[in-house]
Amino acid sequence: MYYSLPDEVYTHEAIIQLVNEGKEVFLPVVLDNFEMELHKFSRKDNMSEGAFNIMEPIGHKYTDFDSIDVAVIPAIAYDEKNNRLGRGKGYYDRFLAKIPLAYKIGICFDFQKITDIPADNNDVPVDEVI
Ligand SMILES: Nc1ncnc2c1ncn2[C@@H]1O[C@H](COP(=O)(O)OP(=O)(O)OP(=O)(O)O)[C@@H](O)[C@H]1O
Ligand SMILES: [Mg+2]
Repeated sequence: MYYSLPDEVYTHEAIIQLVNEGKEVFLPVVLDNFEMELHKFSRKDNMSEGAFNIMEPIGHKYTDFDSIDVAVIPAIAYDEKNNRLGRGKGYYDRFLAKIPLAYKIGICFDFQKITDIPADNNDVPVDEVI
């Protein structure tokens, strides 16, 4: 999952709900070399503010990428072919390349769905946009 910023589809309550349902939730932790890693979310008061004002879990780093069933991915926009436009630094493209097995769900507001986004070989499309 991602821990939403004010201009993104709100995910804070959904994350709590998933944990209450017994699911394991992992959130991005931004590193300074355009890479992200995943840390396990436990509770809201066990987070700290990281890069770009994003709240990040203070949990252990998680690297068993092939075990991830579903990934929920933010974007600036998605197009009709499920291509995504991110914030332009390639963090998600680099990370999504590591989880080819996960079912990727893009979520966005209606106005963020557009006809066509140019994509290159590094751009990873999602499986479904909600
Ligand atoms: N897997 C990768 N390996 C190396 N460079 C990459 C990779 N993915 C993306 N890049 C590079 O990162 C830069 C930013 O990529 P892009 O413009 O697609 O960002 P974005 O998709 O908007 O951002 P984000 O992925 O953070 O949401 C580009 O120069 C792109 O070539
Ligand atoms: Mg991209």
